[in-house]
Amino acid sequence: MTTRPTPRERLAAEEGRSFECSSLREWRLAPLPWEPDALEPHIGRRTIELHYGKHHQGYLDKLRTAIEGKPEAEKDLEELVRTSQGHVFDLAAQVWNHDFYWNSLTPDGGGQPQGELRARIERDFGSFAACRERLAEVASGHFGSGYAWLAAGRDGRLRVLATHDAENPLGGGLAPLLTIDVWEHAYYLDVQNERERYVNAVLDHLIDWDFAARNLGRAGRVVA
Ligand code: FE2
Repeated sequence: MTTRPTPRERLAAEEGRSFECSSLREWRLAPLPWEPDALEPHIGRRTIELHYGKHHQGYLDKLRTAIEGKPEAEKDLEELVRTSQGHVFDLAAQVWNHDFYWNSLTPDGGGQPQGELRARIERDFGSFAACRERLAEVASGHFGSGYAWLAAGRDGRLRVLATHDAENPLGGGLAPLLTIDVWEHAYYLDVQNERERYVNAVLDHLIDWDFAARNLGRAGRVVA
């Protein structure tokens, strides 16, 4: 795993974010942080092309139809997620969730976190293995569509949670550190209905603990 930020990550950090959000001003998705085939063999190019090019793009297109020319369109994406409800929330959150998901994955991921994140995981879960097992259990066992998250609460404690459909931890005063998309479109082409295989491949080979560590670094400001 590398800890050196890319130019895009540096730009995002200057704006107080650990990743680049899609732009409502330009109605443009944030670019993928890697090539579409970079996660193979665990997540195939075709899955990424459809997931990013059709699903993620589709949420942005529908959001544009819903709010272009209205005051909501003047907000930045994260602010819109925090302040909207209903159909607009669902669409905005799905755009944000996917931006966050792409950045939770990296071709040389997996492994184990180090430093402060490692210490906090061991404090709150007992061990890294227990945290990994909890993430696998929640992601694999989640009923229906949604996401599994590692997040930090206002009390500073880390927790694993699942959210349904487009929901995410932002509205609950939690700072998300990483996520795994468990909608079927995230894995069906690769492993059909074997979600557990996808979840284990993500945790063993793709999850970006450095991204989670950067999010932990800004967590105090997010939930303050
Ligand atoms: Fe998705």
